Amino acid sequence: MATYLVTGAAGFVGSHLSERLLEQGDAVRGVDAFTDYYDRSVKEANLAKLRDTAGFELHEADLAETVLEPLLEGVDGVFHLAAQPGVRGSWGATFAIYAKDNLVATQRLFEAAARIGKRVVFASSSSVYGDAETYPTTEDLRPKPVSPYGVTKLTCEHLARVYGSSFGLDVIGLRYFTVYGPRQRPDMAFTRIAKALANGGRFTVLGTGGQSRDFTYVDDAVAATLLSMEEGAAGAVYNVGGGTEATLSQIIKLGERLSGRSLEIVKEPAAAGDVKRTSADTGRIRRDTGWMPKIPLEAGFFEQLAWAGAL
Ligand SMILES: NC(=O)c1ccc[n+]([C@@H]2O[C@H](COP(=O)([O-])OP(=O)(O)OC[C@H]3O[C@@H](n4cnc5c(N)ncnc54)[C@H](O)[C@@H]3O)[C@@H](O)[C@H]2O)c1
Repeated sequence: MATYLVTGAAGFVGSHLSERLLEQGDAVRGVDAFTDYYDRSVKEANLAKLRDTAGFELHEADLAETVLEPLLEGVDGVFHLAAQPGVRGSWGATFAIYAKDNLVATQRLFEAAARIGKRVVFASSSSVYGDAETYPTTEDLRPKPVSPYGVTKLTCEHLARVYGSSFGLDVIGLRYFTVYGPRQRPDMAFTRIAKALANGGRFTVLGTGGQSRDFTYVDDAVAATLLSMEEGAAGAVYNVGGGTEATLSQIIKLGERLSGRSLEIVKEPAAAGDVKRTSADTGRIRRDTGWMPKIPLEAGFFEQLAWAGAL
């Protein structure tokens, strides 16, 4: 049995990862600051099953400020998922939050983890690519983020590199491509579509609806994260993409078909920082860890619609 520190354990991906670790017999020391990016009650619901499971403990603390050594003591590895997510809110005065929760928090964690000599697997993002020049996009393409959020995630990758080269930090960055499934964050499109289908509300499309994403079911993202801890190459950056690309309009149609309900669509201009397309080449993580996404888009979205009460 191993003990892992999971940062952002009350969040969408962090809570799923923590559940999976406990299921496989490991212990989880979760840490979360319960930032107000979305409501605390949602995060408490994410934690409900974890709080009832032996081997789980939660520390409410801000990684940008708290003393990290006690959190890291005795752990076998660190999964660093805590962050201020979301592209659209990263402009303007709120960039200060991104700078604190993504840059300062990550730099402090890398510094402390380098001292104890344990592996860190951390969440980067497909947002580092911006509007990529080639698709499917490989990790070798020079990243050119088009949002301040993407800039913070790329900076985390550079921090990982310099803590690796100067202090021997064993660290792996995962460029998650739009993760979805039950408990997905309330600001993300699948959850907004599913809730609108469940409640008979409207859904606002920003832009044409032709923007497409490579969608990754949360169980597949969690599997990639665990395999990276076990098998990944120190210093690597990996694309984690589900391999099922679809446009927003196609997702809306799929949600309507699966639920047997229809949505009222409102159109508004595209948001600054939103890319037109993402598509992951996942050859590198497949070669190094054997990871393959398993859940097709339709099956995964069905699970999310069921969770949202839209079926
Ligand atoms: N969900 C996606 O599609 C997606 C895609 C690409 C990258 N990512 C990255 O994956 C990670 C998890 O994303 P998510 O969707 O689960 O987000 P989430 O917001 O649900 O979870 C992040 C958690 O981190 C916590 N947190 C933030 N700042 C903190 C701090 N300073 N100290 C302690 N806790 C803090 C928040 O309270 C939150 O519970 C994030 O790093 C995100 O940027 C997610």
